[in-house]
Amino acid sequence: MSIETDQELVAIKAISEIVANTLRLMREYAKPGMSTFELDEYGGELLKKHGAKSAPYVTYGFPGYTCISVNREVAHGIPSRDTILKEGDLINIDVSAELNGFYSDNGGSFILGEDLNNLNPVVEASKLILQKAISQIKGGVRIADIGRLIETEARKQGFKVIKNLAGHGIGRNLHEEPHDILCYYESSNKTRFRKNSVVAIETFISTKANYAYENGDGWTMSTRDGSYVAQHEHTIIVTDGQPIILTEANQIWN
Ligand code: CO
Ligand code: CO
Repeated sequence: MSIETDQELVAIKAISEIVANTLRLMREYAKPGMSTFELDEYGGELLKKHGAKSAPYVTYGFPGYTCISVNREVAHGIPSRDTILKEGDLINIDVSAELNGFYSDNGGSFILGEDLNNLNPVVEASKLILQKAISQIKGGVRIADIGRLIETEARKQGFKVIKNLAGHGIGRNLHEEPHDILCYYESSNKTRFRKNSVVAIETFISTKANYAYENGDGWTMSTRDGSYVAQHEHTIIVTDGQPIILTEANQIWN
């Protein structure tokens, strides 16, 4: 969506604050021995407390409040009583929600406790690449050029990008135009970022694989070759200068 009024700005800021704080608090709450179901219930309570509704649930009927993907899972992981978190796990939590007809989306990967599998480099790369990508976005910049930046930065650090997951427009729906804010250069995409538009920018930085596949449960996307993937996501408003980072309170960069 494009932000045209003060009321719209207030409303998109309100839901962004809620999803950002929910993500931050869930990350702090995650402990070894906890199931992803329990972690999701906690996130669901936080959303409810603020009157917000899970966006994947209301939009797609997703079986959970938030997406929690562990280790080889890349995205859209279903919270489960059978998935028990353990020290050294690579965990991705993605929280998107709706309040008063406005949607915001954010996510982040982190290592639970000690980095037993040496995954810190890919997590740190993803954070820094998202930071760099967002710092280059303003009205008139080609979406494809941001994709090129993400892939180039990943390659410099010895990583790949996932090509079939992407950032997207957001605001009045969870997913809006432009739909393909890819992590690589797609020359056919001539679309440019537009001032005042709300977009969710996300990195998918991979240790090896270029694609994630739905693993048979209808939702969870995983790598097939054992690659690990880190994702970080902010919802932003595009301006003539530096973007307004609506989900900054998630502290994924700290
Ligand atoms: Co998301
Ligand atoms: Co998103």
